[in-house]
Amino acid sequence: MAKNNVATPAADKLVYDPQYILMVRDLKKYFDIKGGMMNRVVGHVKAVDGVTFNLKRGTTMGLVGESGCGKTTTGRTILRLSGDKTAGDVLFNGQEVYDFSHEELRHLRTKMQIIFQDPFSSLSPRLPIGEIIGEAVREHGLVPKAEFDDYIDEVMDQCGLQPFQKERYPHEFSGGQRQRICIARALALNPEFVVCDEPVSALDVSIQAQIINLLNELQEQHDLTYLFISHDLSVVEHISDTVGVMYLGNLVEYGEKKDIFANPLHPYTEALFSAIPIPDPDAKMNRIVLEGSIPSPANPPEGCKFHTRCSKCMECCKHVAPVQKEIEPGHFVVCHLFDDVPAVSHDDAVEPLVKVEKTAEDATAADA
Ligand SMILES: Nc1ncnc2c1ncn2[C@@H]1O[C@H](COP(=O)(O)OP(=O)(O)OP(=O)(O)O)[C@@H](O)[C@H]1O
Ligand code: SF4
Ligand SMILES: [Mg+2]
Repeated sequence: MAKNNVATPAADKLVYDPQYILMVRDLKKYFDIKGGMMNRVVGHVKAVDGVTFNLKRGTTMGLVGESGCGKTTTGRTILRLSGDKTAGDVLFNGQEVYDFSHEELRHLRTKMQIIFQDPFSSLSPRLPIGEIIGEAVREHGLVPKAEFDDYIDEVMDQCGLQPFQKERYPHEFSGGQRQRICIARALALNPEFVVCDEPVSALDVSIQAQIINLLNELQEQHDLTYLFISHDLSVVEHISDTVGVMYLGNLVEYGEKKDIFANPLHPYTEALFSAIPIPDPDAKMNRIVLEGSIPSPANPPEGCKFHTRCSKCMECCKHVAPVQKEIEPGHFVVCHLFDDVPAVSHDDAVEPLVKVEKTAEDATAADA
């Protein structure tokens, strides 16, 4: 079994498995902290610090965790929207996203889209919505000119917008309608993968349900794959097939939704999930309150990054970073509590999370 936060030699090549539209291995994104008279780099914000997961085509992975744990940066780094990555691999349909040329990246942008939390600020106030939805379609020449209007009408219709509203401006729509416009703008490019970054957090509960249903319908119709970032665990439970739990730049637990919700293993996941309201008024909530605030990603604690807040912290947790282990098929956790639990045997494992093959460079080094 490969371990995701054990540094893998850079020369190891990630083996593409076609069932996965996206394969992410040990992804890191650090932001420079500059200071002093010379404005030199004096440190780094380790926003994403070794994230590994695979995402199956046509499925949804929910990404949860407290504010500032690196969810948005993970999504943006996968899409190559935050400059260079610091380390790791991002394979989209088997190709390293960071190896694409400028022209290839332009094409890739149509295949990988993002929907943001605040639909208003991500829509230009000066353009009518027909233009907003169609702008990139025209730029990429995705449909012949003669079919353009009909195409935009069809996309709007699929997203629950009336084509006659094409000439209206974003401020003339409600929050839910604006999010539909953002979804239509993304869908118009015929994407395969969409990062949904808190797409319903700014909306009323009833509108949230409509948008979630729309995303589900579009996923079925277009075989879309989503990375769904959210604070709202009920929403994540509703929409996801797999779930990743992030803490301070790391994925501390990852697996099938049913396993993560029914049997959370990591103390952080347990605490996070203990806050989910129980619909039964007679049921007692055993809420685990996390002490203290999330440490700074510029200066994360040694050993297990969660040890400063973990009620189950042991001596070794303060010094040694735990490694990822598959505890039940497809269910991975990064915690010393499971050091003595045997990992899933290879025959039972869903599949190794990371498969690497030796490159010619490696083989030569081994022979030397
Ligand atoms: N461009 C940037 N420059 C420097 N630091 C950044 C930058 N973008 C994000 N960060 C920092 O990286 C960390 C992770 O931020 P990120 O936005 O990914 O968190 P998040 O999990 O999406 O939080 P939220 O739930 O509040 O949206 C934070 O400490 C943030 O301040
Ligand atoms: S490794 Fe230790 S400190 Fe970290 S979550 Fe597990 S028990 Fe808690
Ligand atoms: Mg965010």
